[in-house]
Amino acid sequence: MATTTVPAPSPGRSRFKTVLWIGLGLTALFVFITSEVMLVTDYPMYHAYRLQVIADRHLLIPHTLAGVFALVIGPVNFSSRLRQRHLTLHRVLGRIYALSVLVGAFTGIALAAGRPGLPGTSMQAAAWIVCTAAAVVTARNRQIVQHRQWMARSYAVTFTFVSSRVLNLWPRYWSHLGDTLAAVGVIAFTLASLLLVDLGLNWRELTTRRA
Ligand code: HEM
Repeated sequence: MATTTVPAPSPGRSRFKTVLWIGLGLTALFVFITSEVMLVTDYPMYHAYRLQVIADRHLLIPHTLAGVFALVIGPVNFSSRLRQRHLTLHRVLGRIYALSVLVGAFTGIALAAGRPGLPGTSMQAAAWIVCTAAAVVTARNRQIVQHRQWMARSYAVTFTFVSSRVLNLWPRYWSHLGDTLAAVGVIAFTLASLLLVDLGLNWRELTTRRA
């Protein structure tokens, strides 16, 4: 099958990518400890939410598995080296990523059903599915530059799971979870993540004047 050649990233861009992935990894680790581990160990502030999580476990188990797949596969598949050397693996992981987003999004909507967070979660899920579907379609059309851009947007939505929990230990932030502000917060995190990615994708055009 024919492959499309994508220009190799400059050394400055490669360094930026490395720093970015390390930063995102450390942030995910911080959130894993301060949100998920402390939720399991019954941190008093999280107690009421913990009961809700336990009651929702039938949906949360597939949701979490799908979310973790998407969170972990993303960085692996962004590797240009992996794509060049193991294209089949890149494709298989890409399909698992897309399926994970679908499962994660629909179980996310089901989790929010009947709660104030439903409108926000539905918009987040819609953005997640649209960006991922566009990434799949552009890949199938061999539009690799656009495929990467849509994958970056899709992963930005995946990462809102982490970014929206960074402040969880701050009681004022936590106490707002569950009310209408949480719904607005989810939309704000999704929009901000997508805007940041698009600013990054257009960085050269934004900082360089055409001769
Ligand atoms: C990396 C991707 C994701 C992972 C690993 C993940 C995992 C989890 C986990 C472990 C929980 C329960 C514990 C907690 O709240 O910390 C949860 C709750 C929830 N997730 Fe996700 N999730 C991801 C992305 C998403 C996305 C994109 C949506 C929206 C479509 C979503 C919707 C929800 C909802 C509605 C809940 C329960 C309600 C609440 O937040 O209070 N999740 N998720």
